Amino acid sequence: MDKVLSGIRPTGFLHLGNYFGALRNFIKMQEENDCYFFIADYHSLTTHPKPADLRTNVKNVLIDYLAAGLDPEKATLYIQSDLPEVCELSLLLSMNVYVGELQRVSSFKEKVRRQPNNVNAGLLSYPILMAADILVHRADKVPVGKDQEQHLEMTRDFAQRFNNFYGVEYFKLPVAYNFGQALVKIPGLDGSTKMSKSDNENSCIYLSDAPEVIKKKVMKAVTDSGPTEPGQPKPQAIENLFQLMRAVSAEDTVKFFEEEYNKCSIRYGDMKKQLAADITAFNAPIYERILELRGNDEYLRKVIERGAEKAHASAAPTVRDVREIIGIKKL
Ligand code: ADP
Ligand code: TRP
Repeated sequence: MDKVLSGIRPTGFLHLGNYFGALRNFIKMQEENDCYFFIADYHSLTTHPKPADLRTNVKNVLIDYLAAGLDPEKATLYIQSDLPEVCELSLLLSMNVYVGELQRVSSFKEKVRRQPNNVNAGLLSYPILMAADILVHRADKVPVGKDQEQHLEMTRDFAQRFNNFYGVEYFKLPVAYNFGQALVKIPGLDGSTKMSKSDNENSCIYLSDAPEVIKKKVMKAVTDSGPTEPGQPKPQAIENLFQLMRAVSAEDTVKFFEEEYNKCSIRYGDMKKQLAADITAFNAPIYERILELRGNDEYLRKVIERGAEKAHASAAPTVRDVREIIGIKKL
């Protein structure tokens, strides 16, 4: 069975893009693989969140994960900071990582541009910590979006470099988990092609949004005055509404509005009402579980304690082996 690992930074609630782009696939993945899903709270410290925000964000991501269907009986769900082995491996790996290569990482250069007043060492060493997350479990596969491909490539470099340096074949080289056709990009409500909380909060529908919030957001989505001739291509904002519909609505519903568009008789108000109702219906079971879990701290605590134990059982032997290979031994 493949070991598959994925981490997410706790920066807020999860939205429909996270669900269709990643979470939905994780739910299938956990059936056939030995999966590790963790909340990367150490990584999120690079942006200096307020302590209270960090705590609630971690809790909310955990709740969203469980509500969407990640099963702690099948997969290992844990919080990064509950696995201190990661810190030790990160430190050990860092001795064979060069400052120059870290400075050339695109995500680092992007951060330097975006937050020139907070270019902290954690940002520079981000890829080492991420490599440690992966290598500590000796994971085979990591599902990654485009923005994380370079980090995974570096993980392979660091692993190979360790093997070469010490003349061992210890680390396997993790590869990207390929979802094939299953990868869907969910557009934003603001006319942008990607729903993204880091780009624009207003583009997002969160799994934890109440039905009336979903309705309000959808009704405010960008549209125009409608097509004027049959067969006219759809502007991006309109195409976005159709894409959202394709994700959550019945085929007949999509077909109906496609026909209305082609006949130039489409009423966007009606379309949005339908879309809001379909998103709400789709999300209802997840939303109900979110409300339940919010009041059940005891269960959440059990889940993360059990997750930490399982993660530790997987990670501890790696750190023990690596110390031995490096020559850190008790007399
Ligand atoms: P955001 O852009 O909102 O900050 P993240 O970068 O935290 O989102 O997303 C975590 C994961 O969720 C990504 O690696 C990606 O796989 C998935 N994802 C995010 N937004 C979308 C989207 N609009 N469509 C499809 N997948 C998405
Ligand atoms: N860097 C990832 C992101 O920003 C989160 C992450 C941290 C991660 N460690 C990981 C993802 C290990 C996969 C594997 O989305």
